[in-house]
Amino acid sequence: MSRYMVTSALPYANGPKHLGHLAGAYLPADIYVRYMRMCGHDILFCSGTDEYGVPITIAAEKMGITPMEVVDKFHSVIADDFRRFGISFDNFSRTTRPEHKEFAQSVFLELLKKGHIVPKDMKQLYCSDCRRYLPDRYINGTCPKCGSEDARGDQCESCGTWTEPFELLDPKCGICGAAPETRETRHWFLLLDHFQEWLEGWLGGQSDWKTNVLKYCYSWLGDGLRERAITRDLSWGVPVPLEEAKGKVLYVWFEAVLGYISSTREYFAKAGKDPGEWKKYWQDPDARLVQFIGKDNIVFHCIIEPSILHALGNFSLPWNVPANEYLNISGQKFSTSRGTGIGMGEYLNHFDPDPMRYALAVNAPESRDSDFSWTEYQSRNNELADVLGNFINRTLKFTESKFEGSVPAADPDMVLLNKALETAEEIAALMESFKFKKAICVAMELAREGNRYFDTAKPWKSLKTDPDQCGVTVATCLNLCASLAVIFEPFIPFSTEKIRRMLGLGELKWSDAGTVLLKPGHKLNNAEILFRKLEDGFEKVLDMPEVPVEAQQKEPEKPQVDFEDFMKIEFKIGRILSVEDIKKARKLYKIEVDTGDKVRTVVAGMKKHYTREELQGRLVAVVCNLKPAKLCGVMSHGMLMASDGESGVFLLEPGAGAKPGDTIR
Ligand code: 2FM
Ligand code: ZN
Repeated sequence: MSRYMVTSALPYANGPKHLGHLAGAYLPADIYVRYMRMCGHDILFCSGTDEYGVPITIAAEKMGITPMEVVDKFHSVIADDFRRFGISFDNFSRTTRPEHKEFAQSVFLELLKKGHIVPKDMKQLYCSDCRRYLPDRYINGTCPKCGSEDARGDQCESCGTWTEPFELLDPKCGICGAAPETRETRHWFLLLDHFQEWLEGWLGGQSDWKTNVLKYCYSWLGDGLRERAITRDLSWGVPVPLEEAKGKVLYVWFEAVLGYISSTREYFAKAGKDPGEWKKYWQDPDARLVQFIGKDNIVFHCIIEPSILHALGNFSLPWNVPANEYLNISGQKFSTSRGTGIGMGEYLNHFDPDPMRYALAVNAPESRDSDFSWTEYQSRNNELADVLGNFINRTLKFTESKFEGSVPAADPDMVLLNKALETAEEIAALMESFKFKKAICVAMELAREGNRYFDTAKPWKSLKTDPDQCGVTVATCLNLCASLAVIFEPFIPFSTEKIRRMLGLGELKWSDAGTVLLKPGHKLNNAEILFRKLEDGFEKVLDMPEVPVEAQQKEPEKPQVDFEDFMKIEFKIGRILSVEDIKKARKLYKIEVDTGDKVRTVVAGMKKHYTREELQGRLVAVVCNLKPAKLCGVMSHGMLMASDGESGVFLLEPGAGAKPGDTIR
């Protein structure tokens, strides 16, 4: 038995969370924790809401309320949705608690004292229209690494890169869209290069980690770690605990990763236990730290957090970080800020948690992105009903009607129960290596085995021809029901609780699987329906997709422009002469366009929308006198005009007869 500290990424309290979040960092953690608890491990599961940083202030500005009002509102919504989904945190904290502030500040000061943090004057982007500095998500632009045009000043969601506002190509103010200017300001930097060599050694020893996680870390280390600003010019955050840094706050990621420790400390303080006991989970070499996250958080948990903990000196480092890829919805990323996705709360208002837990576990984005669809959900729900639900129901109904609801006086068939034991062992090995997707499929195979056994044994016939044999069949099936209640418990805990109630059993341990839990004469309770099948079109009751509040706000109207200003823009008809891919850019093409006067190179984000062949030879509308900009290493001298809406992106088509070089008015 070991001691485990399990964490799930602290979700931003900027809006309700969706099924993509659930599948990424919460459901897998809960499956793991429930399994480990059943094995008797000393395990603590902590998380909480991430309540500082730009995601919160942006939501507050859009909603017209204060940041504190935003986090108060969404902390409750998020905590409640997790509870309704059965995510069994021991503690779900908040980073706006004063204790977290004090702890984060003390860590900052400690690293400053040790020389891992230093102040430096730096240039920062400033929007003179909005009269503010533009850190993190207040800046939009093109990712320097993958070319995604949706990158922000803190992160590119497409490739997971931690970006700095300055690195973005073609940066724009996230509030008004203006091009920012550069100003001088002082910030404090974490000297990550201090940890490069140590991280190489430490990560080198983690060969059992998921390959996607290690690949990502090595790519970071390969680029060479460099200093990163860990303070910001913002009013919402943990204040930098230095007189000379008045008005500045700690960068949200620097303090958020410490939120796991604060949450654990809160757990012990609240439980009225020894307040120092948190150290047993964070500072004891025997404690194993397992951190569940989505892939966009890898750098923060595998590079930044370990560096901080290592620098502090007396903390355990992550034992494993089983990061998941993304769950997409019909090929698109679930996203709170973009308003795509199904909210957890919206789902729960209409359906039970377990069918979704099951569907998401079977389709878990464990090693690659996976896609969610209602058709898939429907077939998984119906599989639960047809296979597991059916086996439990037919066994209990038969016992109810033919054996007066009591376990028959017969020894169960150990061949089938041994199969249950082997299945439990196989699942245990999969759970311990974070392969939940395979584990749930193996569990369902055992339920199928139960149905096959029932069908082959035909107890409805043997009841008349060989009542003793019928008793054996029923005792076996009932005990298999109990084993199924054990092995399905981490995945669908609400349903297994019902199964246990019907069987008249209390809490079970993992080692109970495959044993004879139900002895002759044991009285059962009435059978209840476990799962209801879903007919086509069932999903119409959902308000879909749930558009989170922050995304419901209309785009701000753009200011009016003078006619003269408008006339400064040179629009022309062009013909596409050639289209090439750009290395490492997933969305961009390099396009040569003949605009009459000359052939110009334009870099356009059309890769997702048009094939090269579809573009070749096409007449297009071109903005010719846009200032040249370098995108993924290629200079772009203009822009192709296209519509961009819910239905997709479409190039504007000049009417018949238009020729390259014609002006557009
Ligand atoms: O990506 C996010 O939603 C972050 N709020 C995760 C933070 S995890 C931890 F470091 F706090
Ligand atoms: Zn990117």
